[in-house]
Amino acid sequence: RSTCAAASSTHPLLRRRGYSSESAPERKVAVLGAAGGIGQPLALLMKLNPLVSSLSLYDIAGTPGVAADVSHINTRSEVAGYMGEDQLGKALEGCDLVIIPAGVPRKPGMTRDDLFNINAGIVKSLAAAIAKYCPHALVNMISNPVNSTVPIAAEVFKKAGTYDEKKLFGVTMLDVVRAKTFYAGKAKVPVEGVNVPVVGGHAGITILPLFSQATPKANLSDEDIKALTKRTQDGGTEVVEAKAGKGSATLSMAYAGAIFADACLKGLNGVPDVIECSFVQSSITELPFFASKVRLGKNGVEEVLDLGPLSDYEKQGLESLMPELKSSIEKGIKFANQS
Ligand code: NAI
Repeated sequence: RSTCAAASSTHPLLRRRGYSSESAPERKVAVLGAAGGIGQPLALLMKLNPLVSSLSLYDIAGTPGVAADVSHINTRSEVAGYMGEDQLGKALEGCDLVIIPAGVPRKPGMTRDDLFNINAGIVKSLAAAIAKYCPHALVNMISNPVNSTVPIAAEVFKKAGTYDEKKLFGVTMLDVVRAKTFYAGKAKVPVEGVNVPVVGGHAGITILPLFSQATPKANLSDEDIKALTKRTQDGGTEVVEAKAGKGSATLSMAYAGAIFADACLKGLNGVPDVIECSFVQSSITELPFFASKVRLGKNGVEEVLDLGPLSDYEKQGLESLMPELKSSIEKGIKFANQS
């Protein structure tokens, strides 16, 4: 048990709030796609999180090695690797939280929607397994296109009779992480204290950072705000191009995924005032799913917060993103209901 305390004190990013790891309840977390570019560093970061008691690493290949490697780290959680569909049930049984970075990433020149044909099928089958083996788990969807994969999972859960809109999250945290980093650089303020909500969806212009609500306040010009918005929207493409065919963001995504999962676990454990942005079922706009600030609690989404005051530039951005986001959501719903 002393190693738990050591872990939480040596990893300030994942340091607990409100209680020590000794009193944290048992929590089983699964990573589906755990041997991939995101999955491996995400498995590492979740192994460092003292809120996790059991870490389940699933992929269609490669998980025995990843699990053996990560399991040697002297932190709280027990680690198990599961490989291939016949082990998926075991991987999921008893899970409190399932994180899904399974599927193919973008190559230069591709949009997230170009991944639809492959990833939609993967997400559909993983969601069906979640409905069967851990219907009450929170689900953190990382697989792209998030704007469509979240509606797909929702439809699969509805058909299985297990859908709880409070428990399904599209992970848009990387957009927030990027917005904070770019804003801090431009505003010349320490990045640790920066907050920027990012709303809408998770692809191109559907990513809408609300720099008018960024804190600490800075006097940035309209040109600066435009450039920051564009860079946040194109952040993923910046990485895809720099990696030149070797995939998309994996390390920063693993960080963002780990921070979001940690927030979900804190919410489950009853820590008050945990608020992060996520793409969830929503009624704050006319679209059935939308990313905005969300209060996390013991049942998942406790409250979907509204957008707050928008600048004229952000109002325009909101208007332009609605048709694309609407069609991506509809595409997901249609796919899930085929055959
Ligand atoms: P990767 O190709 O390195 O890894 C994907 C892993 O998924 C592989 O290990 C593969 O074996 C596994 N996989 C494939 N089919 C599976 C199945 N049926 N069940 C379980 N695992 C399966 O890809 P990477 O870079 O890790 O990206 C994964 C996904 O995350 C992509 O869809 C990518 O677009 C998305 N992504 C999302 C971001 C976000 O902000 N939400 C940011 C960056 C990437």
